Amino acid sequence: MRKIEFLDTSLRDGEQTPGVNFSVKEKVAIAKQLEKWGISAIEAGFPAASPDSFEAVQQIAKTLTKTAVTGLARAVKSDIDAAYEALKDAKFPQVHVFIATSPVHMTYKLKKTPDEVIASITEHVSYAKSLFDVVEFSPEDATRTEKDFLLRAVQTAVDAGATYINIPDTVGFTTPSEYYETFKFLIENVTSDREIIFSPHCHDDLGMATANTLAAIKGGAGRIEGTINGIGERAGNVALEEVAVALEIRKDYYQATSDIVLNETFTTSELVSRFSGIPVPKNKAVVGGNAFAHESGIHQDGVLKNPETYEIITPEMVGVKKNSLPLGKLSGRHAFVEKLHELDIEVTDSEVQDLFAKFKILADKKHEITDTDIRALVAGTTVEN
Ligand code: KIV
Ligand code: ZN
Repeated sequence: MRKIEFLDTSLRDGEQTPGVNFSVKEKVAIAKQLEKWGISAIEAGFPAASPDSFEAVQQIAKTLTKTAVTGLARAVKSDIDAAYEALKDAKFPQVHVFIATSPVHMTYKLKKTPDEVIASITEHVSYAKSLFDVVEFSPEDATRTEKDFLLRAVQTAVDAGATYINIPDTVGFTTPSEYYETFKFLIENVTSDREIIFSPHCHDDLGMATANTLAAIKGGAGRIEGTINGIGERAGNVALEEVAVALEIRKDYYQATSDIVLNETFTTSELVSRFSGIPVPKNKAVVGGNAFAHESGIHQDGVLKNPETYEIITPEMVGVKKNSLPLGKLSGRHAFVEKLHELDIEVTDSEVQDLFAKFKILADKKHEITDTDIRALVAGTTVEN
């Protein structure tokens, strides 16, 4: 089975979430937790962007011992120099150079012709390679780039010394089958006497970031990029924890695994949510508050008999203590009796009959039934919201 490397960009692309501004201290704390989570590389920031960004990259470079640390740089020499300065003390430094290759970006943003963009790739990737052993190159907006020009840009970067080729779906435009084809096409057609590793970098504008990332893995990608909880520009980046768990659960299908320490997932997600101030939606895959909660009677009964009936991920796998069976109007007798046991309430079968009927009447009036409600029901009093 192939091992897929994980590059986390929560501190760079993730910090581009409107309203998010991590302090240097918070960035270092997140970086340490990400190292514990098992990522192979962290994009610690964009050193040329601001003094704080520079300092954060420098601090993280000095702190991490197992993880490669990379910094973003436009195809501009001063950006690459800033990355070099910030990453000087890293044990495993890398640099990530990017330039846009789609017609709309080249014409309106860069105001460069395709030939000028190719010349810039040669110049700046070669320059980066003169300072760093490991260079990553991204043709920004790759998925809206004409196919043959994309191949030309990528081949140029490889010839200039890039080892990692990132194919950003900058605006979340691609689809799983299209992205799969893009990876297959590039991997089959790019030539090099060195090993070149391709990576997806997906944004979630159409809600396909996880599916697209997994499709890229199927298409031969060896490293993936994303953020924790999917934070990032607009609708965000791919949520790395979703890909990590999907790979574990469907490893036979993907014929790939990772070194992610899955039972550190919940702690990692919680930390990023706290420092970013972006709450994790209740129904978010893998780390949402309801990810291991079963409310309907049929599901609760199944889970009590065998959790595998309705759980493909165990809570323990991602570091959540246990699943929950919240009581509501759709809950059944099995979960109700289980709750009485959990609360050490002893009742006879006929009392259960009566209490369950009263519970159903109360449940029709309330969104969620709490332990206090159950105790009050047993004591013969009611709790009104
Ligand atoms: O989404 C994107 O295109 C990026 C690049 C800088 C790689 O984040
Ligand atoms: Zn991005």
